[in-house]
Amino acid sequence: MSAIRPFQDADLEGVLALWEACDLTRPWNPPAADIAFCRASGHGDVFVSERDGRIVGTVMAGHDGHRGWLYYVAVDPGLRRSGLGRDLTAHGEAWLKGLGVRKVMLLIRETNTAVKGFYDALGYEEEPRVLMTKWLDR
Ligand SMILES: CC(C)(COP(=O)(O)OP(=O)(O)OC[C@H]1O[C@@H](n2cnc3c(N)ncnc32)[C@H](O)[C@@H]1OP(=O)(O)O)[C@@H](O)C(=O)NCCC(=O)NCCS
Repeated sequence: MSAIRPFQDADLEGVLALWEACDLTRPWNPPAADIAFCRASGHGDVFVSERDGRIVGTVMAGHDGHRGWLYYVAVDPGLRRSGLGRDLTAHGEAWLKGLGVRKVMLLIRETNTAVKGFYDALGYEEEPRVLMTKWLDR
């Protein structure tokens, strides 16, 4: 398994560059603020994989007191299909399990259905649900 470790402050630039390269950033989710909020929460963390001084993979894991969630699963486009995404996801799952979380969930954007095969391969199942959301800062 690749070396995967918790995010450190010095990783910020590399992580943001990776998320840009993976098309995971959106204007309504400022990524640096997402990382800071997650790390300060006490029930979430960001994990990274570094190769030759470069951040090449990430996963954000956290729980809401009931279910666990994974976000920002990302692998450098040049290093895909070599098992790193699987290792990162397993790392996030193991971290959540260690906190007593029994079920992990994640969201796939409608425009990113290509990634569904990845989660299928990792044993995830699609559950029919209607997701309702509301911004609390507007
Ligand atoms: C999704 C992502 C993290 C996968 O990383 P990866 O390192 O290439 O994945 P792995 O090599 O660990 O693949 C694990 C399994 O998933 C399969 N897989 C990987 N990407 C796949 C895809 N796009 N479609 C179908 N299957 C895929 C692999 O074949 C492998 O299956 P196997 O073990 O049975 O051979 C990577 O493609 C990525 O960063 N995508 C852009 C960011 C993104 O969309 N993240 C998810 C947001 S919900």
